[in-house]
Amino acid sequence: MPGTTRIAVRTILPLLLVLVSLSVGMSSARRVQGRLLARALEARHDRWHGSSVGPARRGTTEQNSVTNVLDHGARAGDGSFDNAVPFQAALNAALAAGGGIVWVPAGQFTFHSSITVPVGVSLEGTYRAPPAHNVGEGGLPPTHGSVLLVVGGRGEASGTPFATLKQDATLRGVVLYYPDQDPKAAPTPYPFTLSLSVNSAVIDVEGVNPYQFISAVGAARHYIARVYGQPSLIGIYVDDVTDIGRMIDIHFNPWYSQHPEYMRLQLTRGRAFVLGRSDWQFCTRLFAFAYSVGFHFIETAAGATNGILEESGADMAYNASVLIEQVDVWGLQIAACEFTSFASPQWANVSVTSIELVVAPTNSGTVTVSNTAFWGPSYSIASVAGSGMVSFSGCTFTQWDVHHKGLPAVTIAGATAVSITDSLFLQNNCISGTCFSQIDRTRESSGAIMVANNIFTGAIHNLVALCSKRSSDSCLVINNVVRL
Ligand SMILES: *[C@@H]1O[C@H](CO)[C@@H](O)[C@H](O)[C@H]1NC(C)=O
Ligand SMILES: *[C@@H]1O[C@H](CO)[C@@H](O)[C@H](O)[C@H]1NC(C)=O
Repeated sequence: MPGTTRIAVRTILPLLLVLVSLSVGMSSARRVQGRLLARALEARHDRWHGSSVGPARRGTTEQNSVTNVLDHGARAGDGSFDNAVPFQAALNAALAAGGGIVWVPAGQFTFHSSITVPVGVSLEGTYRAPPAHNVGEGGLPPTHGSVLLVVGGRGEASGTPFATLKQDATLRGVVLYYPDQDPKAAPTPYPFTLSLSVNSAVIDVEGVNPYQFISAVGAARHYIARVYGQPSLIGIYVDDVTDIGRMIDIHFNPWYSQHPEYMRLQLTRGRAFVLGRSDWQFCTRLFAFAYSVGFHFIETAAGATNGILEESGADMAYNASVLIEQVDVWGLQIAACEFTSFASPQWANVSVTSIELVVAPTNSGTVTVSNTAFWGPSYSIASVAGSGMVSFSGCTFTQWDVHHKGLPAVTIAGATAVSITDSLFLQNNCISGTCFSQIDRTRESSGAIMVANNIFTGAIHNLVALCSKRSSDSCLVINNVVRL
């Protein structure tokens, strides 16, 4: 009975919250409370509104649920015409009909202003897999399928996004292209292309050359899947997500322009994935090539992330493949990933310290890294600071110290505990007969250290110093073997 359930929820919820706060402390309780409350409210929303849906309207699915933008006056191939007006009319008609699909046929549709995809409406184009257009530097818009040309918002980095997706709204099967961007010059700022809300989704979409691509702020259970493109400043920005956010099969690669003038911003300031607060963010098969930072975990006013990053990679990150300024105490689990971090003079001459995984002094959360390949040239592989716990297990470490400065693969510069186990160090750390530690620690570090069951190449250089050169909580270097 609806009434009974509601009362039960009301009675049980505070009880749960008391138990939760007693067992995990106040700040954790606040977050769990947020999640439970959100779910309870949704359950109530469904009960109130779910049953009011009447019987299905008669006729075929197409007649009743699909609206064609052409029937509302949309015009392909006319750059001076603003398709925002007819598209919005079609989207509003779909909403008025009780939700449905707004169909975008093949063609190039120009937009001088923004659109909103209403609650329960899907804006759909022709693609059923993520397209990737090798535009080169010709800068001509893609010609096949549903192509949306965005010209509005030029010069306004914090302006209104091109498309705002409301709750349960979807954008699917389209290519987004900024025709006024110049592939041979520094990118011009534009607002975010897409802004998501609770439960909205972006599927089979290409952002050929957005300045800032997708914003998922306050977008609980966002679903971003099968998305390709070359965003220059920010790929996807996630924050204030209080229930599981999902990103899957996303690939950012310089298909639009590899011109040094265009690439410089991306390589020195561009970040493919930026994550503020998300209460379990699931990230699967994400890839970013040629950004300053591949995956950036930050603290915002809303908090930080606890999440899973798996089967993902960031290659040729100029600053860091993964930069963790803050993750939550429940942590970030990095599994089965691959990272490289270096600055190539072929792309942009920048003096930068390229480290594949950086746990910054600000971090107090937990980071576990397993079965991950740190490969490709880098200055150093990992730098671990802060006051959290960090572990590496089953990883491969190779090709670090490209500048031959005698740097370790891993520098422990803080953290209350660091564990490196069951990993393979593929290179000897020697330069013309002088050898350097594969793992080192700075004077700032005083946490517990465990280095065990690893295989080193050539020799184990001075790992004993890890435990002897500074007193720490406890320190164990044991069961490591060498292959010559
Ligand atoms: C990358 O490193 C450079 C040089 O240290 C710095 O100026 C720049 O702000 C860094 N970029 C990011 C996104 O952290
Ligand atoms: C970087 O500098 C080198 C040496 O001066 C030059 O050959 C190369 O073209 C430069 N790269 C870029 C992207 O400007």
